[in-house]
Amino acid sequence: TPEAPDILSPEFAADPYPAYRILREHYPLLHHKGTDSYLLSRYEDVARAFRDPVFTTDNYTWQMEPAHGGRTLPQMSGREHAVRRALVAPAFRGRELRETFLPVIERNARELIDAFRDAEEADLVARFATRFPINVIVDMLGLDRADHDRFHGWYGAVVAFLSNLAQDPAVAAAGRRAGEELAAYLRPVLRERRAAPGDDLLSRLCAAEVDGVRMNDQDITAFVSLLLSAGGETTDKALALIFRNLLAHPDQLAAVRADRSLIPAAFAETLRYTPPVQMIMRQPAADVTLSGGTVPAGATVICLIGAANRDPGHYTRPDSFDIFRTDLNPASACSAAAEHVAFGLGRHFCVGALLARTEVETGVGQLLDAFPVMAFADGTAPDDAGVFTRGPRHLRLRLGRDAQ
Ligand code: HEM
Repeated sequence: TPEAPDILSPEFAADPYPAYRILREHYPLLHHKGTDSYLLSRYEDVARAFRDPVFTTDNYTWQMEPAHGGRTLPQMSGREHAVRRALVAPAFRGRELRETFLPVIERNARELIDAFRDAEEADLVARFATRFPINVIVDMLGLDRADHDRFHGWYGAVVAFLSNLAQDPAVAAAGRRAGEELAAYLRPVLRERRAAPGDDLLSRLCAAEVDGVRMNDQDITAFVSLLLSAGGETTDKALALIFRNLLAHPDQLAAVRADRSLIPAAFAETLRYTPPVQMIMRQPAADVTLSGGTVPAGATVICLIGAANRDPGHYTRPDSFDIFRTDLNPASACSAAAEHVAFGLGRHFCVGALLARTEVETGVGQLLDAFPVMAFADGTAPDDAGVFTRGPRHLRLRLGRDAQ
């Protein structure tokens, strides 16, 4: 039997997938000493932890509450969660996205691409992926477009705060400062929108009411902060990953170029093969028996999304990137019936899944149109980095306008 993997080791950070295989095969329920938590790696167990209400979100740590200046959806459960989710979810549904927000998404993709349309080489992460989702959120909220850069700064500080496992005091201070600045920025705008609502997301959040519950300024500020991290870093990484994966499989990239209706399949397969969010925590309220044994009540459980998504009990050739696979339904990748767990499952299933998909479809389509030729500038595919969230730090591409 191979040694039990350590999710805090440098080998794991360099490439977690060999460790995921060992966990699935030999340690389906492993108590990990370094984090005092239980690791789940099989699809059936991870799916159960997402779906079965005995697994609570009471221990949702990663400094979620201080990072956002208040409690947000991922930490809530039961009726509180259902009501709070019903307040925000309607703005992210398909009709809303198509009718109100699609032009915003298209415009932001176009503007970012215009800034490097003539470049022969560009880092797609810096020029596009990290900017696009934040700019879209700022515009959906109906805020001043001149503030895109400020939001990008706050986004960076909040994300660094959330992943500050080493508790660096400078990172913590910058995160807190960003939170205060964001709250101060939103205060007068919220006053305005409550007095004179528009069609924007912020006005909708102000007006939303479910069972007599409404959101106060602090609730809305915390949700906006959550949108920056939950909707920013994830979509940022998904965009970089879909290009990295397609460029590493040129035949599949050529197929997508020839038929844009394959983008949803490429997106679903990217989320399965290289999920941007690799781990999510839960806490069972009672002892629970899973495929590898019993987790005690009150323990911290880490659901390893990256491991579940490559479970050979669930997918054929799980370690191959294949947008044509028939065991993953691209159409279902934006509902709780999704066949990968990159968006979670059940009550906490990603609110922004359809927005993410719309952003990726628009962004990928426009980038393919702008650059008929794309290749890794360094000749090889860049590696991914990160343990909780994971994706390439850079994606330097050689760009050409004439397909030859
Ligand atoms: C929840 C992943 C994009 C907003 C989640 C969860 C995952 C996830 C795994 C479940 C957390 C849990 O069960 O505890 C992703 C990925 C994305 C993405 C991989 C991009 C490819 C977005 C976007 C938004 C968003 C664009 C919004 C603008 C949220 C919110 C929740 C959530 C608000 C909390 C839902 C709840 O607790 O009820 N996301 N997400 N996400 N996501 Fe996303």
